[in-house]
Amino acid sequence: MANENTPHGTITDNNHAALWHGRFAEGPDAAAVEFETSIHVDERMALDDIHGSKAHAAMLASQGIISKEENKAIQDGLDSIEKDLGSGALKIDYSAEDIHSFVEATLTDRIGDPGRKLHTGRSRNDQIALDERLYLRRVIPELQKQIASLINTLADIASKHTHSLLTGYTHMQHAQPGTLAQHLCAWAWMLKRDVERLEDSLKRVSLSPLGSGALMGSGLPLNREMVAENLGFAGVTENSLDSVSDRDYCIEFTSDFAILQQHLSRMCEEVVLWSTTEFGFINLSEKWSTGSSIMPQKKNPDFAELIRGRTGKVYGDLINLLVMMKGLPLAYDRDMQEDKAPLFEALDTVQGNVIVFEAMIASAEWNLPQMEGSCFGGFANATDVADYLVRKGMPFRVAHGVSARCVRLAIDSGLSAIEELKIEDMKKISDLIEEDIFEKITPKACMEARTTTGGPSPKMVENQISALKAFAKKY
Ligand code: ARG
Repeated sequence: MANENTPHGTITDNNHAALWHGRFAEGPDAAAVEFETSIHVDERMALDDIHGSKAHAAMLASQGIISKEENKAIQDGLDSIEKDLGSGALKIDYSAEDIHSFVEATLTDRIGDPGRKLHTGRSRNDQIALDERLYLRRVIPELQKQIASLINTLADIASKHTHSLLTGYTHMQHAQPGTLAQHLCAWAWMLKRDVERLEDSLKRVSLSPLGSGALMGSGLPLNREMVAENLGFAGVTENSLDSVSDRDYCIEFTSDFAILQQHLSRMCEEVVLWSTTEFGFINLSEKWSTGSSIMPQKKNPDFAELIRGRTGKVYGDLINLLVMMKGLPLAYDRDMQEDKAPLFEALDTVQGNVIVFEAMIASAEWNLPQMEGSCFGGFANATDVADYLVRKGMPFRVAHGVSARCVRLAIDSGLSAIEELKIEDMKKISDLIEEDIFEKITPKACMEARTTTGGPSPKMVENQISALKAFAKKY
């Protein structure tokens, strides 16, 4: 307890008691405090809390609700807190109820009475919504940059492999010939949509809820627009009740993270598969592989597996948020304090995964002969046999049947490719088939013929690579 002489009389107060202690004759049980505190989770929003408070105090002064001197003391006090937190001179007090309580108590310790005016016209209900929005606006661009860097790395690798043949699969069966570049670009386009989705969610989070108070705004002459502008928001939220009840932005970003994580899990699955002896397309760097404690020969793709394995966490975080918010009556309910742990866990998880995936893929080696070999032996050129006949005027459905009969004949003759058939035998199936078919259905010819926009022909993939690189550069 401190005794302090203020213009309003002597205040005997403990700045570190709960912000609401006045109504209570008894303090909370120690176990109760430990149970309800959120400071271990929300401490990462300290900077945002300070910046939001500074904008709030500046507005209070500009509206004549507090004096210029009081505002100056608050601004300087909050700056000193920010500085000391940064240098480590000030340590978070983990007995505080939350980050808001900690910042306000520390401010009042440092500057006395003006600190007690900071919360004028404000509730922790609008304050937490503001802090979360500020935090997301601060950290999401970092994640976008990290994803963009991965897109750029994939495009770089792709640019070296526009001619490196790799079969494409459907149902995990050989389908049609493509290239490694086409495959890596496919990954990159998935990630590009993730960056765009985050951009989209950022638009909706960029509105200030401050001034909504506990739920019904304020009778004091606050200027919400001024705070919003000061903090770089595009505007203010429209309804005070909705503003403090809304956690859509937590759910929306976590769902963006879940989709990103789904993409990473699919990419990792392919890396795991491709590094098997059976596929042998990729050779992961020893720096990004692990061994076995018993099997001396092992070099395992653990990093790809760990990224894939953490998908449960991120999906779980999304479900956690959706269920936590389900059926909550308006406005704030304490359940909502539980929003931050899943939001942050999902964010941290995808961020770590993106960084590790980039390092892992950038340092990997590609086994080109093995990849090219994948284009043979699975009849991956059967569609091109049909297209060959279509070019000669045969209806596609008929051509499909001719090609299928070639495949059937090859299988029945114990051959592993259409091009291993004799021309006479093929002619018996269709007399439109001529000697030139052999050069038209090599994997290379099939791949190069696919010049449709978005197709695997090197020229088309080069267009993709330039577009992806130009996109990544924006971040
Ligand atoms: N720590 C709280 C949270 O994260 C801040 C809001 C507290 N509001 C309240 N009415 N208890 O949700």
